[in-house]
Amino acid sequence: MPAGVGNPPQTDQTTREFPLLAALRRDFTWGVSTSSFQIEGAAHEDGRGPSVWDTYCQKGLANHDTGDIACDHYHRYAEDIALMQRLGVQAYRFSVAWPRVLPQGRGTLNELGLQFYDRLIDALLAAGIEPWLCLYHWDMPQVLDDLGGWTTRDVVSWFTDYAALVAGRYGDRVKRFATFNEPSIFTLFGHGFGDGKRDISGVNSLHRAVHHVNLAHGAAVDAVRARVPGASIGAIHNFQMCLPSTLADAEAAKHCDLYWNRAFPDPQCLGTYPDRIQRALEPHMQTGDLARIRRPLDWFGVNHYGPTYVKADPNARLGFGIGPKPPDIPATPIGWPIVPEKFRETLLRVAKAYGLPIYVLENGLGGHDKPDEKGAVVDNERIAYLRDYIGALNEAVSAGADIRGYFVWSLLDNFEWDSGYSVRFGITYVDFPTQRRIPKASFHWYRDLIKRARAQADG
Ligand code: FCB
Repeated sequence: MPAGVGNPPQTDQTTREFPLLAALRRDFTWGVSTSSFQIEGAAHEDGRGPSVWDTYCQKGLANHDTGDIACDHYHRYAEDIALMQRLGVQAYRFSVAWPRVLPQGRGTLNELGLQFYDRLIDALLAAGIEPWLCLYHWDMPQVLDDLGGWTTRDVVSWFTDYAALVAGRYGDRVKRFATFNEPSIFTLFGHGFGDGKRDISGVNSLHRAVHHVNLAHGAAVDAVRARVPGASIGAIHNFQMCLPSTLADAEAAKHCDLYWNRAFPDPQCLGTYPDRIQRALEPHMQTGDLARIRRPLDWFGVNHYGPTYVKADPNARLGFGIGPKPPDIPATPIGWPIVPEKFRETLLRVAKAYGLPIYVLENGLGGHDKPDEKGAVVDNERIAYLRDYIGALNEAVSAGADIRGYFVWSLLDNFEWDSGYSVRFGITYVDFPTQRRIPKASFHWYRDLIKRARAQADG
């Protein structure tokens, strides 16, 4: 059966309900998101160089999963765009793999790699879907990581040259550019959450990485702006309230919030670091850096899944770590807390703190979906989650937040980082051995929601 064809699987009554959408703008954008390493595959094809995630996988993930094939999107992008068309999304957020277009991270271009994104972008435009291009979704070229990666200030010029290449190549067709996906997550998980409170070199690497990513962001904004007339540029932050696991963890939660939620948006949008981070960063800063980081932005990207519970941990590098959620808080099948009110609060906080139009560029539920005996994937839990979170978004808009779009994570089940293929976030099921795509019940639900929302906007 070709992708996207077939009757919607049966769902229960509750999950056929839709959230209120009354407050949304008429031009609200509905979309889906993915990222290069998680879906492309073709890891050794057409001259792509290795990324840090290829190396990490070689060290041995659960089930020995790798990104070598992933969703084989490199070859199946046309089928995936057909799925998007069937969904009725107006926009698709993807990322460019830096090592696919610059296998050595800098210097010699890989024309075959560049042509893949030409094909993808042209096919999206032909399908009436707006491409949203993210420059960095964690797949740094391994050769650059070997030279220090985000911990060396040289990375700022490497990233700027890469951004200039991508903007120059695709800027005639792509207008929406994001610099980074979730800088706080890859810096904290890469350098911040290690053991050893006295591990000063670990803490220093974290602070250097934070500052260099911020500088690279500012320089990339300028590089894109200079090359793309009419560009609309932002960065994408994982913004989630940091809540204490127990009463004793209140200080730890506040401390975590500085790194998780503010270390990037504050300098990028306001031109300041929170005091405590500023003191830690001073040894790594040069005169004029804050002005280099704060460049005019057009929008603020929010990725959100649920609140982050934090515990004090005297052995952790920063004195805090991810803590357990209180037992009365509901959770997704992979244990992520479900608290839609905190999404509403987060959106209102971001709106107030940064004053930019907001696009929600990731939200979704991870589980262990399986086709039933009829071959249908009935993911009622995901539908209920999406319904409640989109409902909370509508409430945030009613309360004054300027939110202009919502993108589900993710179009496809894909390579979920440390969990490999064992965790599925897609609204389309991917049978990895055959690469067959099966739209889940949530796919049909989201399609109907978009249809309804657009009819409401037109009517
Ligand atoms: C986000 C990542 C994305 C995906 C989701 C589940 O933190 O940006 O790549 O893995 O989580």
